[in-house]
Amino acid sequence: MKISIIGAGNVGATCAIVIAEKELGNEVVLLDIKHGLAEGKALDIMQMAPLALFDTKTFGVTDDYSRTANSQIVVIAAGLSRKPGMTRDDLISTNANIVKSITENILKYSPDAIFIVVTNPMDAMAYCCLKAAKIPSNRVIGMGGLVDTARYRAFLAEELNCSPKDIQAVILGGHGDHMVPIINYTTVSGVPVAQLLKKEKLKDIINRTRLGGGELVNLMGKSAWYAPGYAAARMVEAIALDQKRYFPCSAYLNGQYGLNDIYFGVPVKLGSGGVENILEFELNDSDKAMVNLSAESVKESIEVVKRLHIL
Ligand code: 2OP
Repeated sequence: MKISIIGAGNVGATCAIVIAEKELGNEVVLLDIKHGLAEGKALDIMQMAPLALFDTKTFGVTDDYSRTANSQIVVIAAGLSRKPGMTRDDLISTNANIVKSITENILKYSPDAIFIVVTNPMDAMAYCCLKAAKIPSNRVIGMGGLVDTARYRAFLAEELNCSPKDIQAVILGGHGDHMVPIINYTTVSGVPVAQLLKKEKLKDIINRTRLGGGELVNLMGKSAWYAPGYAAARMVEAIALDQKRYFPCSAYLNGQYGLNDIYFGVPVKLGSGGVENILEFELNDSDKAMVNLSAESVKESIEVVKRLHIL
């Protein structure tokens, strides 16, 4: 299994380390446009191998897509990332052109690749990747909901003083401030969280989850990378090992949840075929209204991409 990661920044490099440590592929190629960056990080990760005891080979390359040839899975984690005061949408026009170029270059050498898109604003960038690739939508998946639910579960575990392993959660919607944690489907070892936390506390945790990315940008002056990088690697793992895992991912909707021609965060079954199923479930009126609000926000970002006339 060959996996390529485009963008050797913090997210891409973290993803590469996790993939190597889990030995999800026999070869990981890191590619960046900044001379030497991917080569250096790949070499540094290779030197971890005797310590972390993995046999995955890591290679770095500067802007030479031929080195990614025959990749089964490609993670796109390249482009501008947020600085304090910026929204994810501030990145659209620059990153849409970058994602389009990466997609076209990858497909020249890996015509059957499955794409995992991390670049923000992620839902719109996944849409851009699909339209640039002109491939079946099951092969283009966005990484957002997995890190959002990880934050949600981590905050709940902290508040309840319990293991995050015992918290299951569902978040629908765009990877942005309008994401929709579904309280009725948030459980602690099967027990609905609404029976364990006061309404106000739960509301605070949901609000902190929605703004979780921005909180880290404000603290660090740049966007997060450990949890996003690990989340992308978890998606690689589900595909590479055909795990049939249900993860919250951004998938192309064709009528699910009443939405069309949009990338949107939903429960997705991930396996060797990429998106193998999209789970739909009953929503109460309040959640439905918030899902539609989130969808409007994602559609606005996608419209900006469409108005660029690059696809
Ligand atoms: C985040 O939520 C980078 O969008 C990513 O941190």
